[in-house]
Amino acid sequence: MDGAEPYVDFDRVEKSFRAKGGKVVALEALSMSIDQGEFVAIVGPSGCGKSTLLLALAGLTTPTSGAVRLEGATVAGPVVDAGVVFQNAELLPWRTALENVLLQAEVRKLSKAEYTERARQLLADVGLAGFEDHYPDELSGGMQQRVSLCRALLHDPSILLMDEPFGALDAITRDQVQMDLQSLWLKSRRTVLFITHSIEEAVFLADRVIVLSPRPATIAADIRVDMSRPRHVSDRGAAEFTAYVNEIREEFGKLGIFSDRDPAGGGEE
Ligand SMILES: Nc1ncnc2c1ncn2[C@@H]1O[C@H](COP(=O)(O)OP(=O)(O)OP(=O)(O)O)[C@@H](O)[C@H]1O
Ligand SMILES: [Mg+2]
Repeated sequence: MDGAEPYVDFDRVEKSFRAKGGKVVALEALSMSIDQGEFVAIVGPSGCGKSTLLLALAGLTTPTSGAVRLEGATVAGPVVDAGVVFQNAELLPWRTALENVLLQAEVRKLSKAEYTERARQLLADVGLAGFEDHYPDELSGGMQQRVSLCRALLHDPSILLMDEPFGALDAITRDQVQMDLQSLWLKSRRTVLFITHSIEEAVFLADRVIVLSPRPATIAADIRVDMSRPRHVSDRGAAEFTAYVNEIREEFGKLGIFSDRDPAGGGEE
């Protein structure tokens, strides 16, 4: 990369779907860029087009017009150098934690033997040493989501795409996996696009929080979070943290969205 080209570039991306009642426009003339190594969180009302945006970057859906570029090249099919994590861990129930992580090597036809050590290390990094041979139904929701995260990272992707990965977890588990994600991220500083319903989660994790408008999604605000790292759970009580959260709530307020509470209906604190 020559530095002039943004690492990720959404260039007037529009995505519409044919629906029963006519056309549904999910994204409209959406333009934004992300620098390499940046941790960007996307928040926005339900149904506004967040998942569509992530799938367009992953190359799993094609824009109706406009283009998504990664390192200067238009995304035209599934992005091989990406890791994706969805809301549900999507583990195969008949495979152990380790085997689920190694699935990534299998589908990519990489040597399993070569990746086994890395898989074990990743599991250990997220506190799952000793659980390698457990099956998903023997793991808690938080542990399953950690396995899913390890699977997404096994091939050392240069970009990590996460679609509400912690949405189904209880508040305490969620705090823990956020810390795990932060420490993994601090080790490698990969580019991350992280979708969440939780303003607190976005502020806690991200370098930048992008607020999307109701559908069709356009960028309503783009807020830089200048807080030092590593961030700690106790930082959520800091005035600085609260100020960011309030600033983003106000942006939701300007969009006419109920703003006295987290648009997800809470879940934290
Ligand atoms: N494959 C599809 N076919 C038809 N319509 C779709 C399709 N995918 C998304 N949509 C529509 O596009 C809009 C945006 O959907 P999307 O899933 O991107 O929203 P979202 O912001 O991720 O919502 P949520 O917060 O509930 O996950 C919605 O109106 C949805 O119904
Ligand atoms: Mg979604």
